[in-house]
Amino acid sequence: MKIKKITKAVFPVAGMGTRFLPATKSVPKEIMTLVDRPLIQYAIDEARAAGIREFIFVTSRGKSALEDYFDVAPDLENTLRKAGKKELLAVLKGTNMDSGAIAYVRQNRPLGLGHAVWCARRLIGNEPFAVLLPDDVIAAEKPCLKQMVEAYAETGGNMVATMEVSPEKASSYGVLDVAEDMGAIVRAKGMVEKPKASEAPSNLAVIGRYILSPNVLNNLNKMKQGAGGEIQLTDAIAQEIGGEESVYGYRFRGQRYDCGSKAGFLQATVAFGLAREDLQREFSDFLHDMMAQQKAAQ
Ligand code: G1P
Repeated sequence: MKIKKITKAVFPVAGMGTRFLPATKSVPKEIMTLVDRPLIQYAIDEARAAGIREFIFVTSRGKSALEDYFDVAPDLENTLRKAGKKELLAVLKGTNMDSGAIAYVRQNRPLGLGHAVWCARRLIGNEPFAVLLPDDVIAAEKPCLKQMVEAYAETGGNMVATMEVSPEKASSYGVLDVAEDMGAIVRAKGMVEKPKASEAPSNLAVIGRYILSPNVLNNLNKMKQGAGGEIQLTDAIAQEIGGEESVYGYRFRGQRYDCGSKAGFLQATVAFGLAREDLQREFSDFLHDMMAQQKAAQ
């Protein structure tokens, strides 16, 4: 099987982030800080590690801070250079994007994730591409998308990241109907967006990493409203099932944090804070004391 290399990734970042109001009144959700980096930087780093060279952002009104974030900041760089702050300079430069490597398209109406990806169709063209939802932050030894690119080299088709969730949580996700379970990889015979708990076909939820065939964009051309009245990416992927290219779920190795929810964001903050050598000691001592105080107060 001849597999085309995945070099383009779509980052849907048009959402209003209402769950984080009032913070998101003036700051895009994707710029909110996890330890010392904005959420979007984690997704970008993961994409880069997987070989992505072209980054397509689907934005909306009020997201200009995102564009500025990826631009070079000559004044800031000069100041750091003069002050001899080499490490900070390197960190700063790591956020720059080469001219031409990054593109922005606007989703001018909030019609759903499928519609957001469809907005990028002309930039994607006729080749397989990745989609990363920056709300899903995944801590992993080997970055999740890289794991998927390697698995995809074996399967081709379409691939979604997946993980087991409890039955009562399934209705918050896209859920796979499994035809064949091969361990890390499962082949799907169906996919449902946000099923009722009693109707979920399995407990394998879709997590925000996808490798998709360009056929999915064609499907989106004709897509009608699905769950929640939105144009769903899940539905466009599900249409591929039974066609030429299969749909696979990939059980990634790693820990996913739902940074689209407050509890998930806090959990990620603790986990990523503890994983940082420069913060570990002080932070874990603090957490220890906090827990002890809480216990004593109970
Ligand atoms: C989106 C997708 C859903 C997927 C989820 C993962 O839903 O539509 O299929 O399971 O991301 O985070 P959202 O969380 O945007 O409602």
